[in-house]
Amino acid sequence: MHHDSVRATFPELDAIEDDELRSGVVDAWATAMAENGIDDLRGVPWLPPTQRELGIEDETLVGHVRDVTAGSIALADVLSERRGDKLDLDLDVVVAGALVHDVSKLAEFDGMDDTPVYDLLGHPYYGVHVVARVGLPIELAHIVLSHTGRTNVEPATIEAEIVRRADEVAAASIRWRATDDLRTV
Ligand SMILES: [Fe+2]
Repeated sequence: MHHDSVRATFPELDAIEDDELRSGVVDAWATAMAENGIDDLRGVPWLPPTQRELGIEDETLVGHVRDVTAGSIALADVLSERRGDKLDLDLDVVVAGALVHDVSKLAEFDGMDDTPVYDLLGHPYYGVHVVARVGLPIELAHIVLSHTGRTNVEPATIEAEIVRRADEVAAASIRWRATDDLRTV
């Protein structure tokens, strides 16, 4: 029942050409919403502990995921165009990976409160579970697992590297609101 709202929330889904991959991404978000009792995806915050600390409570997960997806597509497009045949890159995997990279947060926070999932598992292990459960390929679970320095898995593919870098700079652009020196936050 959440599938329509996921599709309406992420217009970037249309950039995924492969039907199975696109519906897998929708399934991942819809499954995480159902499992965690979330009806209003747009109301989910980006990262409560950091938002509390920096006083930026209006930042949303959906806004961040869309930033990361647009940034990932831009990076992939520029590199593909400039490097031509020398870069074998799967744009579908980049878009799908960017869209699911933070799906874990639906289980990690309840409103602005941390959950036992965040406390006992941390970021982004629940996301790996959801992505695997809906049958998305292992390359997508790899992007989820390697997009953050909180795990010991580093990006092994160019698609995972692009999503990680796009996420880092998108997150920095949020923190930048609250500081004049990114080294301090
Ligand atoms: Fe993340």
